Amino acid sequence: MVGALELLTVYLGERLGLYRALHAGGPATSAELAARAGTTERYVREWLEHHAASGLLEVDDPAAEPLARRYCLPLGHVPILADAGDARYQAYNGTEIVRAARWMPEVAAAFRGGGAPPALPWAPEGRPEFNRAVFLNLLARQWLPAITDVDLRLRSEPPARVADLACGTGWSAIAMAQEYPLISVDGFDLDADAIAAARRNADEAGLVGRVTFTAADASGPGMSGRYDLVTIFEGLHDMSRPVDALRAARGMLTRPGCVIVADERVEDQFTAPASIEEQYHYAWSVVACLPAVMGDPDTAATGAVLRPATLRRHALEAGFRDVEILPVTAGMLRFYRLTP
Ligand SMILES: C[S@@+](CC[C@H](N)C(=O)[O-])C[C@H]1O[C@@H](n2cnc3c(N)ncnc32)[C@H](O)[C@@H]1O
Repeated sequence: MVGALELLTVYLGERLGLYRALHAGGPATSAELAARAGTTERYVREWLEHHAASGLLEVDDPAAEPLARRYCLPLGHVPILADAGDARYQAYNGTEIVRAARWMPEVAAAFRGGGAPPALPWAPEGRPEFNRAVFLNLLARQWLPAITDVDLRLRSEPPARVADLACGTGWSAIAMAQEYPLISVDGFDLDADAIAAARRNADEAGLVGRVTFTAADASGPGMSGRYDLVTIFEGLHDMSRPVDALRAARGMLTRPGCVIVADERVEDQFTAPASIEEQYHYAWSVVACLPAVMGDPDTAATGAVLRPATLRRHALEAGFRDVEILPVTAGMLRFYRLTP
């Protein structure tokens, strides 16, 4: 209960800009922070007291009068709570938990009736760009360089062509194009709004011409083009027909070429009780990832717990010769190479 309730208070800090205002303007009383963030002093005072009591913030003198106390964000908490450009940023999890909870009555109805709950609108918070900073900082600076032959191909002539399936709002495609100046990247996603956002993000990054985005079903018959590398980052388990998508990806490869998949780093087999990381992936699977793919009558109904053996089975069924787990250290993701 303490952890769940604390995440709701993190939602308020993130959504109202309280962390950012406290960091930007420095230590503040409740009245000062309320004024900086355009909020009401009495609410902000309770939030500050909770956050200090919980160790998320520090208070200069707990014995001072409530209105005189000054609060600050400890330096080590700044990247986690106040800097959305840092790969360690986690405050969006407050938003994620609130959004997931909003959906639960529909998920409960879907448990009874089957099928998928209706799509959940992103409003009022907007999309949490949870992989933005991670991809911009790590994907093409650390993770792909750890796959030596792929890294070399992306740096070499003739310029490599990359297809990024389930690209979401485009940050993986943008990160690759920024770090590998020769390549061009075509991103594809089922979600037309995500594709519109991806185009805006690429425009702002100055990558027009080198990165394109298309709304398309990666498992549909329309996928075409020839690519040296096809990538699927945190997207395969979200597809209702992963085998069809892998078959399409295989058909898009030039020789030699490969598909790189990154998906959740789950355990090799069902374990109970499992690690805390496995518990985390299972919980998201129950409340969000599995429900999202249940609307397709031919769904593989994968869920977030996509085990290496399942991925291998899907890949072999799609015609790949081999699946290799790559030695890439990538937080909660595991990298796979699929060889045609
Ligand atoms: C968890 S998001 C990941 C997005 C992005 N790769 C990232 O890591 O930020 C999963 C994405 O898969 C997309 N998706 C699901 N099924 C798809 C399909 N059949 N074809 C293309 N995209 C699909 C969703 O629209 C969503 O954007």
